Amino acid sequence: MSGSQRPTAAISHVFRGTFIHSTQETAVQILEDALLGVDTGGKIAFIGKAQTLDKLSRTFGFSPSQVTQLKQHEFLMPGMVDTHIHASQYSFAGTALDMPLLQWLNTYTFPVESRFKDLEFANRVYTEIVKRTLRNGTTTACYFATIHTDASLLLAQITNDFGQRALVGKVCMDRNNAVEDYKENLQESQEETCRFIAELLNKKYPLVKPVVTPRFALSCSGAMLGQLGALAKNNRLHIQSHISENEEEVKLVKELFPESESYTDVYHKYNLLTDKTVMAHGCHLSDKELDLFRETGASLSHCPNSNISLCSGMLNVRNVLKHKVKLGLGTDVAGGYSASMLDAVRRALDTSKVLTIQDPDYDTLTFEEVFRLATLGGSQALSLDEKTGNFEVGKDFDALRVNVAAPGAPIDLIENEAPKILLEKFLNLGDDRNIVEVFVAGKKVVPFTGPAE
Ligand code: GUN
Ligand code: FE
Repeated sequence: MSGSQRPTAAISHVFRGTFIHSTQETAVQILEDALLGVDTGGKIAFIGKAQTLDKLSRTFGFSPSQVTQLKQHEFLMPGMVDTHIHASQYSFAGTALDMPLLQWLNTYTFPVESRFKDLEFANRVYTEIVKRTLRNGTTTACYFATIHTDASLLLAQITNDFGQRALVGKVCMDRNNAVEDYKENLQESQEETCRFIAELLNKKYPLVKPVVTPRFALSCSGAMLGQLGALAKNNRLHIQSHISENEEEVKLVKELFPESESYTDVYHKYNLLTDKTVMAHGCHLSDKELDLFRETGASLSHCPNSNISLCSGMLNVRNVLKHKVKLGLGTDVAGGYSASMLDAVRRALDTSKVLTIQDPDYDTLTFEEVFRLATLGGSQALSLDEKTGNFEVGKDFDALRVNVAAPGAPIDLIENEAPKILLEKFLNLGDDRNIVEVFVAGKKVVPFTGPAE
């Protein structure tokens, strides 16, 4: 419970019940019969014990009748953060999982991404993925779009309209692509990326920001990587890409960039490793490369469904955490077949258990640790932890109202269970039917309302 709680703005709503979140010190902190107040700016104004209701209502000027009481099997948890998802690949999610990465890109992915020059197609796909992820509890998403500027701006507009917090990247790529009409050249890419960033910033969406997005080292010339590194540095922008996902890719990067010591060094050389960088996968990074991640403040996105589905590798999360590299979870749709962060949680636990099967000394991740990766860890990986990730006073109220016993949902509670068991059951067995409300920056965004429905 936070000590200094002074009112800054009027209170818009107050919840009473069980709140579950992570802190730096504690993977799962449970606050029972607690009160959480949200101000009209969407920020968490106070968290306190229910016994202090009278005092809090006087201090913050709300009426006890304004309080929403959570039901017995309900709790509030922070919204989940998907640190890596290709919105443009959603149409083929659940299919095309029979090839390794580089063949998969040329056979399935690039032909589909090339269709996003058609804004009508883009609108259909992007609307569905934003709705699907929000409904499944993703309050913050870090999206890859395609090379098309207008469709990428449309994705940003759709996330804004539905009220999801997002980083949106127009993809940049100028080489090694077998699909003829899905290419850009260096100059065109620079102009379009600048236009994308300028137009998106100009919209002044409160929760949606651009992210500089070189696809990965194999798709980008050194000149393009340098150009994007400079752009990000000069404008203090977020950066996202892929790294060390599959062994064939790592070998080819070494051949293409013989002057670099490692894959990580390629990005470092072009100023693409900063404290606002998130790199997906990293399954095959050396300890020395992880050190470079820590030194630069760059983070990793663990995408376990994709890593298994494309037979790419298994990230040793314990080793990443030992190196104190910031880490979140990603769905990596459509290399990962599920858009739900609950699936990412389960696949992260499965991968960790496979590593333990292979080496019984491997320290298996706990569900508590993976819960933290899906929430606070993700916000840190995206350098958005001043705004979101847990229930700290002053952060935006990004939250899920979970009912573990929701009618029609997949969990049968035989007896009353303690909150930690409710969390564990939700993470392992729950789905969107258990997520009865979703809030982003204090605004209820699920159930959908109005014309967006
Ligand atoms: N590496 C480069 N592009 C991609 C992509 O679209 N998906 C995945 N999983 N890896 C990539
Ligand atoms: Fe990816």
